[in-house]
Amino acid sequence: MNTTRNQLIELLKRNNQTFISGQELSEKLSISRTAVWKHMKELEKEGYQVQAVPRKGYRISGQPVKLSASTVKWGLRTKWAGKQLFHYPVVESTQIIGHQLAQKGLEEGTVILADEQTAGKGRMGRRWHSAKTEGIWMSMILRPPVVPHKAPQITLLTAVALAEAIESLTNIRPAIKWPNDIFFQNRKAAGILTEMQAEQDEIQYIVLGVGINVNQSLSDLPEDIQQTATSLKLETGIEWELAPLVQQILATFETYYENYLGNGFAAIKEKWEHYGYKIGEQVHVSASKQKYQAEIIGIAEDGALRVRKLDGCEENLYSAEIHW
Ligand code: BTN
Repeated sequence: MNTTRNQLIELLKRNNQTFISGQELSEKLSISRTAVWKHMKELEKEGYQVQAVPRKGYRISGQPVKLSASTVKWGLRTKWAGKQLFHYPVVESTQIIGHQLAQKGLEEGTVILADEQTAGKGRMGRRWHSAKTEGIWMSMILRPPVVPHKAPQITLLTAVALAEAIESLTNIRPAIKWPNDIFFQNRKAAGILTEMQAEQDEIQYIVLGVGINVNQSLSDLPEDIQQTATSLKLETGIEWELAPLVQQILATFETYYENYLGNGFAAIKEKWEHYGYKIGEQVHVSASKQKYQAEIIGIAEDGALRVRKLDGCEENLYSAEIHW
């Protein structure tokens, strides 16, 4: 986003109880008063309620419901996550843009948001339905100083951050279905897609994609997922503003990520197991052409799902279908 606009938003945010004169804004931003006026008109177009009073100046009295780079920036409490933020009305996939920007060298924490994706990507080559303004379709560039085989830990960390951010805003507790789907009862509300560019022993970058169904009614979901998917609106009966959700997710993610880089995976593992779906319950496992019943115990340091078979043997699963 335009840096002058960022600074303008910061100034207005800090002074939202009082008016700031056009002169003061123009001096602080080193732009003309006409340029200040033009920026205010742009903010109005984005849905901000701008009060412009002669001889007093400008004040923002209301924020838009729409998602935009400005609405996410306004009130974002992070050090680096989302400080560089791109918002598009429609894209094929925010993952594609994430890769392009990462290859151009954009920094860790750069976020790409879209109102709509025409070819949203899910895990295992699946499509991710990403209709207009109904959810959060977001990718973030990461450059973690960890070895490539530890990348799954970052996906698990993201699932924990998502679950916690959603719970703290909505007051309903999601579960994380291994490896990283966000569930309410037996329905999926959000998913994570991690795409990595790496050398033998070094991650060049990760494009971390997060898709959250937020304001869909049942009929907004494609027929083939109506029995298995849900949205925050379906779970709570409330239409949610997207920007505060994005802010909460970025802030929670940043805290967990810094903690992980400083202190390792132990705290994430504990939190993951706190949210883990069906932990302690018997499930049906299909793995390596075998089918058996087992109890889910938790996750391993390397992100594997730990199960205990009926004969008491414990196993770590890296790729398996789990049925309940
Ligand atoms: C899954 O299959 O559970 C992962 C879904 C990930 C979807 C998100 S939406 C934003 C980003 N852009 C994409 O094309 N996919 C991810």
